[in-house]
Order: sequence, then C-alpha cells, then structure tokens
Amino acid sequence: MFRRLQEKWGVNTRQFWIIFTAFALTGTTTAILTRYVTAILGVDIHTFWLWKLLLRVCMLLFGYQFVLLGFGALMGQWTFFWKYEKKLLQKLGLIGSKEKTSMDHGQWTMDKTRIAIFASGAGSNAEKIIQYFEKHASVAVSLVVCNKPGAGVLNIAAVNSIPVLLIEKEAFFRGDAYLPSLKQYQIGFIVLAGFLWKIPAALIAAYPGRIINIHPALLPGYGGKGMYGMKVHEAVIAAGEKKSGITIHYVNEHFDEGEVIFQAACVIAENETPESLAEKIHQLEHTHYPLVVEQTIRRFSL
Ligand code: GAR
Repeated sequence: MFRRLQEKWGVNTRQFWIIFTAFALTGTTTAILTRYVTAILGVDIHTFWLWKLLLRVCMLLFGYQFVLLGFGALMGQWTFFWKYEKKLLQKLGLIGSKEKTSMDHGQWTMDKTRIAIFASGAGSNAEKIIQYFEKHASVAVSLVVCNKPGAGVLNIAAVNSIPVLLIEKEAFFRGDAYLPSLKQYQIGFIVLAGFLWKIPAALIAAYPGRIINIHPALLPGYGGKGMYGMKVHEAVIAAGEKKSGITIHYVNEHFDEGEVIFQAACVIAENETPESLAEKIHQLEHTHYPLVVEQTIRRFSL
C-alpha cells in the first residue's frame, strides 16, 4: 500500500516518510489546536450545535491546511505541500485551471519528471544522480534498468529503494519489449550511465530527444562501438594525448554520435595510467552529470 502511494506521489522513499510524518503530525496538532481555540472562544456543552459545527469545519478546512504547510516547510517539503494545497484550492473552485498541477491527470507526479537510469557497471554515476535528486526534488529517479545480473548498480538501487528492471538482450533488441514497463513507471526521460548496449530505434522513437548518455572521452575522439570504460582510457594514453574528458550527448541510432550537450576536459599527466585517468574522469562525471541531467530535462520541459 505504501509503495503504491509513494509511486502515486512520485517521491523517493525518504521523502515519502517525511511527507507521511508531516500528515500525521498535522492531524494531531490540528486536533489539539481545535480544542484550545474552541476553549478560548468559550465553546462548551451549552453552545449552539451549529456554531460548534461551523467552528470545527473552519478549523479543518483552513487551520489544518496552514498547519500542514507549516510542517511541510519545516520538514523541507514545501514544494510538495504547496502543490497539494493548490490542488485543494482548485477543487474548492478558489483558483482557476491555470494553476493546474499534474495531479489533475490522475497522477500525483507533482510536476516531477520521472527518469530511468540505464546502467550495467559499478554504478558510481547512477549513485551520484540518485543522491543529487534526493536533494533536488525536480526529478525522481524511478527505475534502474540493468542488463547484467550482479552489477554493482543493482546494489545501489536496492540501498536507495529504487525498483530495478533486469533486461535480456533478445527482448531489448526487438525494440519495444520493455516500453510497457517504462510506461508503467511513467518514465519521461532516460539517462544512460555506463550502459553499453546500443539503444534500439524503437526506444529512441518512443523517447525523442529524451535519452542522454555520458562517454568518458572528448567525442568525436575515442567513441564508437567497443569504446567503453578502461578501453577508452588505454587508447587515449596510448595515443599520447595531452588531455581527455567527458562528453554528455543525446542518443541517436549510432554509438556516441548524438548531438553534444556538454563537455569538460582534464589534463593527462606525464605518468598517467589508465587507472589514474579513469579516476579523474569519474570525478568529472560525478561533478557534472547530475547537473547536466537536471538542466537538460528542464530545457526539455519548457
Ligand atoms: C563511466 O565512466 C561512463 O562514462 C562509461 O562507463 C563508466 C561507468 O561507470 N560509459 C561508457 O564508456 C559508454 N561508452 P559507473 O558504472 O561507475 O558509473
């Protein structure tokens, strides 16, 4: 039941329990406040019943909402509760349809874009993205898609209570086999973070301009089929390059050829090894990828 409510609200587990607590505290606090307010106003058993009823309804309708917003703000969930209140005001006809939130479409997505992270490796980028969006509520990481049983990213998903979709090669390359699952989780954007299979045309067509990838080199150099992870760093060092870096790009039907969104470079030291370069590159990725994901989604939703 909790899981379904969490999905309905479009929040992560931590947020869910904070919001749940805020609702619980608001109920208790409003009940106590109602008792105090009615006592201050001199309400007792002799008071006319209609007056008592009106007072309670007012406390419930207005007092409760103020207390809820107060707890929401105190607990760092202002955005969620403000949208909740707006929805309520709409229902009461107090604000117009211009104020509509995405809750009106039957889902409490709270204007969040739900993303799926496709990853098959250690998952350090996935972890940074998950951690970033724990604090920045504009995006919800709703699914991890992985093609490798035992991959480190599966543990990261489990620790963060993010559902996992384990995919199989044959079904994935058929193209649309996993679309219903992505739809089920209301995925609006796909982030590849160490996912090495080529994305089939049907998936690209289903998510036009909404799939991005990170590559551990300065594309167009050192990209293409078979160029991933340590292989890239080994090739860069073997070629005697003075710098390398990261490229974040849109995904099209060709490996590492989509439009570039962002690049950042680092210097290659005299005694650089593929391992030390991998570390530098990972640092660049962890610093920039979550931010670029957020900016790209924001640009897309404008
Ligand atoms: C990252 O360095 C990413 O750029 C690379 O795989 C690594 C995954 O690390 N991706 C590619 O090489 C794609 N061609 P992570 O699992 O620790 O995030």
